[in-house]
Amino acid sequence: MLNFKFSIPTEVFFGKGQIKVVGEQVRRHGGTRVLICYGSGRVKQQGIYDAVCAKLAEKGISFCELGGIEPNPRIKSVRDGVHIVKSHGIDFIMAIGGGSVIDCAKGIAVGACYDGDPWDLYLRKGEVKGALPLGVVLTLAATGSEMNGTSVVSNLETKQKLPIRMPFLKPRFSVLDPVYTYTVPPRHTAAGTVDIMSHVYEQYFSPVSGAFVQDRLADALLKTCITYGPVALKDPENYEARANLLWAGTLALNELLTYGKTGDWGTHMIGHGVAAHYDVTHGVGLAILFPHWMDFVLGEDTQGKFYDLARHVWQVPLAMDRMEAAREGIARTRQFFTELGMPARLREVGVAEDMLPTIAKTVVEFGEVGVFRKLNEKQVLEILKKAY
Ligand code: NZQ
Ligand code: ZN
Repeated sequence: MLNFKFSIPTEVFFGKGQIKVVGEQVRRHGGTRVLICYGSGRVKQQGIYDAVCAKLAEKGISFCELGGIEPNPRIKSVRDGVHIVKSHGIDFIMAIGGGSVIDCAKGIAVGACYDGDPWDLYLRKGEVKGALPLGVVLTLAATGSEMNGTSVVSNLETKQKLPIRMPFLKPRFSVLDPVYTYTVPPRHTAAGTVDIMSHVYEQYFSPVSGAFVQDRLADALLKTCITYGPVALKDPENYEARANLLWAGTLALNELLTYGKTGDWGTHMIGHGVAAHYDVTHGVGLAILFPHWMDFVLGEDTQGKFYDLARHVWQVPLAMDRMEAAREGIARTRQFFTELGMPARLREVGVAEDMLPTIAKTVVEFGEVGVFRKLNEKQVLEILKKAY
């Protein structure tokens, strides 16, 4: 296990009715003029938007809004938000929604403290030392953006989807009310479950050995998804299922699993490469790609990690040969994603075969990806072809 400093500053208010804290929390973090970010008009129809406004108004906090933030959020929305912030003297950002709205809000929060075009920051060109404070009301269990410092944004003109990771982008507080996730449609419930599992896999498959605690925490989060993903699909208003998925999603990517080790993230980078060219839902792309990445990296040198996963998570029989068990674990992962209703091939989500080389180039634009197994352009292309 490597050295690390444990620091997860986001305060989480979990459970029914926790939206009540929004006004006092914004005040506490110095907010007086708030930009409320959201996606479609859904949050207005569901009353979540009005509830946030009411809590802000109670504390005498003024606000304006940026709606229409797209799934796979675009840099244009970030630019629009930065413009509003700079022209209205905004000092606090509130995001209501899933990872897309939160990531866009983070882009706005940091873009507001930067003089140039916010896209520079995603290109790792500009330098910035801080961001406006951010609060979140989460409505979808998936990305973990509600408790981490990552923002992923797409640029349609340049065909890029790029992440930034900055500690000061961690939200000051996040409201996690499982009831708000009752309305998540089956496709996004499934895609979110796959995304949570993928985050666990990305950190579980690490070149650093000896992080036993983190690995067993990983098992617990995977088992939570395997247990409750299907329940939430069948019974969308099952509080226990929604609550466990919501908390698993947050814990899967708030750095807890990655302290003391390094995560791989190769599959996510391939997924972002696909999404840069095709508007594929994040978790859907991962459901297709992850089992193929697993097939690709399984070998004599890596089978130990796969075997442990198969034993601890999928409970394959102890008597099974280690390599056979490792393969069985991958097969069970693939089967589980299929049972959730996820597609298994890139061709099923509209990707054209002749675009695979272009996607592979996009993936390695900033160099090889992955650390458990480093992947160059040729290897990325091989995985894409297998997933096609
Ligand atoms: O537009 P709205 O109304 O918000 O609708 C969304 C959207 O259409 C809808 N939805 C959300 N909550 C709902 C709901 N519909 C009904 N009831 C609810 N309660 O679901 C759709 C998908 O929402 P989105 O925010 O796009 O999903 P998700 O949370 O999966 O976020 C995906 C984005 O996050 C990035 C992905 O790349 C993708 O762009 N990621 C962010 C990460 C991070 N910041 O740490 C890490 C992830 O690996 C990921 O890359
Ligand atoms: Zn993800």
